[in-house]
This record gives sequence, structure tokens and C-alpha cells, in this order.
Amino acid sequence: MIEVQQLTIKTKEATLVRDVSFKLTQGKVLGVVGESGSGKTMTAMALVNLLPEGVTSSGSISYHGKELKSFSKEELRRLRGEQIGVIMQRPMIAFNPVRTIERHFIETIRAHQAVSKRQAKAIAEANLEKMGLLPVQILSHYPFQLSGGMLQRIMMAMTLALEPAFIIADEPTTALDTTNQLTVLKELKAIVEQTNVGMLFVSHDLAVIQYIADEIAVMYNGFIVEQAPLTTLIKSAKHPYTKRLLQAEVGQGISEKLVKHIVQYDSCPYFSACSYAQVSCQSLPPLVEVTPHHQVRCIQIERGESVCPSSK
Ligand SMILES: Nc1ncnc2c1ncn2[C@@H]1O[C@H](COP(=O)(O)OP(=O)(O)O)[C@@H](O)[C@H]1O
Ligand code: SF4
Ligand SMILES: [Mg+2]
Repeated sequence: MIEVQQLTIKTKEATLVRDVSFKLTQGKVLGVVGESGSGKTMTAMALVNLLPEGVTSSGSISYHGKELKSFSKEELRRLRGEQIGVIMQRPMIAFNPVRTIERHFIETIRAHQAVSKRQAKAIAEANLEKMGLLPVQILSHYPFQLSGGMLQRIMMAMTLALEPAFIIADEPTTALDTTNQLTVLKELKAIVEQTNVGMLFVSHDLAVIQYIADEIAVMYNGFIVEQAPLTTLIKSAKHPYTKRLLQAEVGQGISEKLVKHIVQYDSCPYFSACSYAQVSCQSLPPLVEVTPHHQVRCIQIERGESVCPSSK
């Protein structure tokens, strides 16, 4: 299990993510949804200690009970890949431009598994096929000869080839067209069911998240504002932002509007965008459990007031 408790991520100037807690368990997909700039990538990268320069985290992240901060460099190298596979948002930067895809696969697989080059190539081929790609058309190519969507799927195939216990997938289908998006989502869902892998699946698109997730955390402006099992969130969303997301047309996803303001310490993170804001919302609401496994960060919901009617 991966357990995150009160994760806060900062630069010198700003707090990017605050007080985020969740658990990832084997065989389950936690979907994290929120608009661009809400802190999804930072949260995902913190889980594998890959935050950018100048960005620091506090709080606790533990892998099977062991604090991530206590892992040595070598332990971290083995953890990433063998135990936790990472599919990053920008596939281009994950590849070395002067190496063929075959060489990437063979080196990655053999760095973690005691197999021959021939066996590594066979593993590569099997996993490329799972992602709907033809190995003969891919393996001899260099990264720059392939589209962003193809590289994204290749990166997923490479992640799956190592059979990790957990996968952190940051917008893994965003660069794909609708048909390929569905192929990849179906395959990822089947892999979770068949292999018992646990997954953190990040997307700005609620329709995508709904397809794959067992549980959903909704982020806004660096905070989790609502978290619940899939059906609870869809049927009984309480937070005004979640309701707005659910009312967005299916398939259109959420607006890519950047959340410009940094995390406010003293008010609700949704205060400036909320149609139901009142003076009392100027203090930071805690994330409270409204029913078992359903948490909401809204002062008025906490007080049991009937704000945010479902018609709005
Ligand atoms: N390398 C970085 N250094 C400092 N701040 C960053 C960096 N990358 C992103 N940010 C800021 O962190 C916040 C959260 O970003 P991010 O996690 O990428 O959001 P999301 O993935 O939800 O779009 C944003 O305000 C963004 O501008
Ligand atoms: S606390 Fe107030 S501003 Fe924040 S979501 Fe609830 S009603 Fe809106
Ligand atoms: Mg992102």
C-alpha cells in the first residue's frame, strides 16, 4: 500500500499542494481529477520523489509502511520501475533521442529483470501489442520519428513490461485521439483486474476518470475538495466544484483554464469561483467525512446547510 498523509508541496514563493491525504491499494484505481494547475502532477511526482528543482514536500509518503524519504538512491531506483511504474505527462522528455525504441526497451527491462536481449525483446513486443501498437513498426524507430500519442503508448508498454505493483499515470491518454484513448483505457482497466496492480490515474477529464477509477479525488487549487468511491461521487456529489464538473458535457472534459492564484491559507480554495460563497467561507474548511468514505471540504456542507442545490 502507498499511504500519503498531509502532503504539502511548496516553492519558495508559493504553496502548490496542501494537506493532501489518500491511500493507494492493490487492485484499485484512485482517479485524481481537477483543472490545469490544480496540483495533480506535483502530487503524482511527489509519490516517486521526482519533484522539480526548487519544489519541496512535507508530510508523509510511505510505501508498505516505509517512509519514502528514508529510501537510499539505489532503493529509489529499484522502487521506480520495479515497484512503482511512472507514466509521465510529457512522453518526449522520457526518451533519449539517440536511442531506438528497441534499445530503450531492452535496457530498461534488463536493468530490472535477469533476462536475455531476446527475451527482453519478446516482452517488449507483447506489451506494445497490448497498447494497440505493431512492434515491427515501432522498435527500430528513434523517438523523434514517432508522434506524441505513440510515445505515450510506448511509455505505457514499457511501464507494464516491468510488472510493477503500482502505476502512477499522469494524463496517460490526453495525447491520444478518441479511438486510441478508449483502446488504452480498456487495456489499463483489464490490467488492473488481471494483475492486481494499484493505480493513481490523473486526468483533467472527468469522463476518462469515470471510466477507469474506483475512487475519485477532486482537486482544486492545490487541495482535495471532495473524495469518494466512484458511484457515490457521481450520484451524491456535494462540493460545488464537483457538481460543476459533473454538469460539464460528457466527453468535453473540464475547461483547461489555468488556476492562477496560489493556495490561500485563510479561505476556502474555491472561494473566488464559488456561486454560493458567503462571508463565513473566508476561513479554510476542513475535509470532513459526510458519509463513510465520502469526504468534502466545504464549510456550508459541514454545517449541514442546504447550499449548492443540484439544479445549479
Ligand atoms: N517546476 C515548477 N516549479 C514551480 N512551480 C511549478 C512547477 N511546475 C508547476 N508549477 C506550479 O504548480 C502548480 C501545480 O501544477 P501541476 O501539479 O503541474 O498542476 P496540474 O497537473 O493539475 O495541471 C501550478 O500553479 C503550476 O504553475
Ligand atoms: S466553503 Fe463556501 S466558498 Fe467554499 S465551496 Fe463551500 S460554499 Fe463555496
Ligand atoms: Mg499535470
